[in-house]
Amino acid sequence: MDFIQVDPQARQHVALIQLNRPKELNALNLQLMSELRDALRQLDEEEHVRTIVITGNERAFAAGADIKQMAGKTAIDMLNVDQFATWDQIRKTKKPVIAAVSGFALGGGCELAMTCDMIIASETALFGQPEIKIGVMPGAGGTQRLTKAIGKAKAMEMVLTGKFMTAADAEKHGLINRVVPVELFLEEALELATQVAQMSPVAARLAKEAVNRAFETQLDEGLHFERKNFYLCFASEDQTEGMNAFVEKRKPAFKGR
Ligand code: HXC
Repeated sequence: MDFIQVDPQARQHVALIQLNRPKELNALNLQLMSELRDALRQLDEEEHVRTIVITGNERAFAAGADIKQMAGKTAIDMLNVDQFATWDQIRKTKKPVIAAVSGFALGGGCELAMTCDMIIASETALFGQPEIKIGVMPGAGGTQRLTKAIGKAKAMEMVLTGKFMTAADAEKHGLINRVVPVELFLEEALELATQVAQMSPVAARLAKEAVNRAFETQLDEGLHFERKNFYLCFASEDQTEGMNAFVEKRKPAFKGR
């Protein structure tokens, strides 16, 4: 594993996965996501593990999908890579997964946190879907999960302006479970994971499935729709311009084509 670290026994019955590309603010490249999928699959099978915590570091949970890896891609490249198959497998983890978020949780990073079952945030956490600023849109569930979590008005504003939401506001609007001081965010998540790990693993699995079912029947269709539009963004010059501008550290000039 190059980009994540796994501790299968961080606490009794609790495993910890740390995203580990600190210099790139844990940007989620394809290899990292595959490693994460494999680790979750393995922990899901290990009997002594009952709950899983995913974290980053103090500065960043994850600043999104790896823009440098996507910058030169066409819509068909994106379709063929089919990275969302990996995301779907992550979403299907049976054991409860808790995200411990500090710093940036942006784009795919915010989407990864929302894919988890609960979110504990440090007071420095910032949530956002800034894809619009690089000429694309959320592609890993952002338009669906964020909207369901915080409602249309706030989600629309975040998705259309790229504006970040603070941890305090995220708690106020129901995106996360709670905010704690930065030095405590991981501890608090591990503590919550330990609490859940004391319950019946069978009941926890079934209850998780049932809570997710409350919105998943419509989610599948929404995700499908979102994906098509995300791929379509890669047919635009604005996507090339937006991502190249990021890589070249300049302001993008969008043209609407
Ligand atoms: C690749 C990234 C990155 C990303 C940061 N880096 N985010 N590389 N992909 N998403 C890299 C930077 O290029 C830089 O490396 C290093 O991490 C530190 O970042 P800085 O920009 O120097 O830090 P700072 O000035 O503190 O700004 C932090 C930031 C900014 C506000 C988070 O990095 C930023 O805007 N990042 C992009 C956020 C974003 O647009 N996310 C959505 C991506 S699209 P170098 O080597 O240059 O110094 C997406 C689609 C998801 O997620 C759907 C499909 C899964």
